[in-house]
Amino acid sequence: MALLEVADVEVRFGGISALRGIDITVDPGTVTGLIGPNGAGKTTTFNVICGLQSVANGRVVLDGTDLQGMRPHRRARLGIARTFQRLEIFGSLTVFENVLVAAEIHRRVSRDRSNPKAATSEILELVGLRHMADEAAETLPTGLARLVELGRALASRPSVLLLDEPSSGLDETESDALGDLLLRLAAQNMAILLVEHDVELVMRVCSLIHVLDFGRILAVGSPEQIRSDERVRAAYLGTEDDVAVPDGQDVDAPPPGQAPGEVLGASV
Ligand SMILES: Nc1ncnc2c1ncn2[C@@H]1O[C@H](COP(=O)(O)OP(=O)(O)OP(=O)(O)O)[C@@H](O)[C@H]1O
Ligand SMILES: [Mg+2]
Repeated sequence: MALLEVADVEVRFGGISALRGIDITVDPGTVTGLIGPNGAGKTTTFNVICGLQSVANGRVVLDGTDLQGMRPHRRARLGIARTFQRLEIFGSLTVFENVLVAAEIHRRVSRDRSNPKAATSEILELVGLRHMADEAAETLPTGLARLVELGRALASRPSVLLLDEPSSGLDETESDALGDLLLRLAAQNMAILLVEHDVELVMRVCSLIHVLDFGRILAVGSPEQIRSDERVRAAYLGTEDDVAVPDGQDVDAPPPGQAPGEVLGASV
């Protein structure tokens, strides 16, 4: 059985189904991708998993435990951590303090007796922010502030890590480093679910990719399978009559000079 299982989940906002029949599994030791056009339901899926969004149907199961009705802080204690698409860090605290707060909370609520300051230093080293430890978080560019948030999530020693567009705001080198870090975390047996518009990053680090479109799972497969899936290409690219795509983020709009079909790495 997978460590994290999302089964047949439905979410309604008013009369409208934002998610329908969502099945996702995430195994330890892997990075699993969750991609899809803007508004497809990726962040809503994360909110369901961490308990911020109630469901009309379906369930979330962590290591055999049904999380139905469980509040977010309890889910966090059971090992689920996340970052937010809209960055959530303590701006007036330093980078070190941002992670330390989470490390201290973790020590209070778990049996982990490791020293929070030592743990914080180790995490800052891991995410590549040690040299910025004493900077106020609010002075960091968005991309690096996202790494602070990632560090804070890691301080709770999660078994499942949900990342909502962690590379947005990072340059190419920083994005590559993030990819390396995700692979290292997976090698330590973490189960990572990655929402990301940078399809190249997703293709590089994910062993399995789920594609969401209009609140439904459109396709599940390996990077190669997803790259060549016609339905996926259509969801991102539109039909021939409707080539215009959503709002210009990496996956939605090819860079100038690149044909639309090259977004997923093959020609249409
Ligand atoms: N609290 C809410 N109330 C009503 N509708 C909502 C709410 N949250 C999300 N939605 C709608 O649900 C759909 C899915 O939104 P969601 O934020 O999950 O998409 P997403 O895949 O994360 O998109 P993006 O790539 O832009 O971040 C959208 O149509 C959105 O407008
Ligand atoms: Mg989102």
